[in-house]
Amino acid sequence: MSAHGSPIPMTARASGPLRGVAEVPGDKSISHRALILGALSVGETTVTGLLEGQDVLDTAAAMQAFGATVRRHGPGAWTVQGVGVGGFAEPEQVIDCGNSGTGVRLIMGAMATTPICATFTGDASLNKRPMGRVTTPLAEFGAQAVGRAGGRLPMTLVGAADPVPVRYVLPVPSAQVKSAVLLAGLNAPGETVVVEPEATRDHTERMLRGFGAEVSVEDTPEGRVITLRGRPELTGQTVAVPRDPSSAAFPVCAALIVPGSEITVPGVSRNPTRDGLYVTLLEMGADITFENVREEGGEPVADLRVRYTPGLKGVETPPERAASMIDEFPILSVVAAVAKGPTVMRGVKELRVKESDRIDAMARGLEACGVQVAETEDTLTVQGMAQVPGGAVTQSRLDHRIAMSFLVLGLVSARPVSVDDGGPIATSFPVFEPLMAGLGAAIARDPA
Ligand code: S3P
Repeated sequence: MSAHGSPIPMTARASGPLRGVAEVPGDKSISHRALILGALSVGETTVTGLLEGQDVLDTAAAMQAFGATVRRHGPGAWTVQGVGVGGFAEPEQVIDCGNSGTGVRLIMGAMATTPICATFTGDASLNKRPMGRVTTPLAEFGAQAVGRAGGRLPMTLVGAADPVPVRYVLPVPSAQVKSAVLLAGLNAPGETVVVEPEATRDHTERMLRGFGAEVSVEDTPEGRVITLRGRPELTGQTVAVPRDPSSAAFPVCAALIVPGSEITVPGVSRNPTRDGLYVTLLEMGADITFENVREEGGEPVADLRVRYTPGLKGVETPPERAASMIDEFPILSVVAAVAKGPTVMRGVKELRVKESDRIDAMARGLEACGVQVAETEDTLTVQGMAQVPGGAVTQSRLDHRIAMSFLVLGLVSARPVSVDDGGPIATSFPVFEPLMAGLGAAIARDPA
């Protein structure tokens, strides 16, 4: 079932070449953070290019429930009147974060050092995902959480009345956990320190600085040490959200593998903590050029020009690259299916606790389409082939990136590839269907 309605079965057929300009929506990670930091600031934050996917809309509603005034003024144009650090009000209703792990984990962090109580829930996917990874460090600040077995939602969090600062070494490479701790640290006295043995996306650190917090980052033998001085006065900012490299990955990978394609994708974030897919595609021999490299809204961005590349080679992705491409392994495994030789993805066990178990979801769907796959707890290996047979109905498992990946596979398979439910695509890429159709891709909803 789709998160917010009946399943939407969809099918992709061999098509192309893909041509044109792919204006992908705003970055999901930055959009969540713009709303949350706007809510924790004094004065008005103006956001342009906000992703209007369901995940971010759920975070906008949550910020309103915690007392901020969140308004939409036009496509992607939003304002937030914040309540200041420590100013969250107690919400009257349960906070429903829908499908979004980022939303719930960051918001739990943001409220954990304010003496209020809130109950969080989500859809069937989110309610299976582990929350102990955030409630453990939040307990060190003095917050208390009660949830279902295994630390699952629905869950009630009572924020600390008298928070203490925390030094926390991340046990898993997770930007969501890092961000939850930093957001909690905002309303704790003294210095909150997060140590990350492996670098994860750094939007929270960048944006905290942009909103006026004192944040230092040091590379040490223990890893990246991020130090935040508590109780800053954050002030409303103007945030221009760059386009999402994780969403760009779908038209980019489609253009690389559909014969004769050539597309451009303007204004995509090239933040090095999000860049692993692009590094990997270049190693595979992909014809991608990065033009007009510039800085927008505190993030490096570029215009991508992508051309069909015959003869892509299978590669190995090292474990230390996994965090910088964690959301891109599903679509990489589609490119791998048409590359020469095997592609081995190492250090990917975090994929098992995403919107779905993405190793299992991709492995089963690729097998159903005739692709040879091998997996361990922490690796996924895809054997490339000259022509993927296709001809299967794959399962999206309430996971937007699984649905989009199999629809891209259908563009190069001998027979059509279907997904049982394309509804989840709306969580991160609401314009996926018209955007891909505009490039010439035969992706459509099945007739009712
Ligand atoms: C995100 C972090 C990643 C990523 C998710 C967005 C973020 O999750 O998979 O889509 O915005 O912080 P983890 O932090 O759990 O790896």
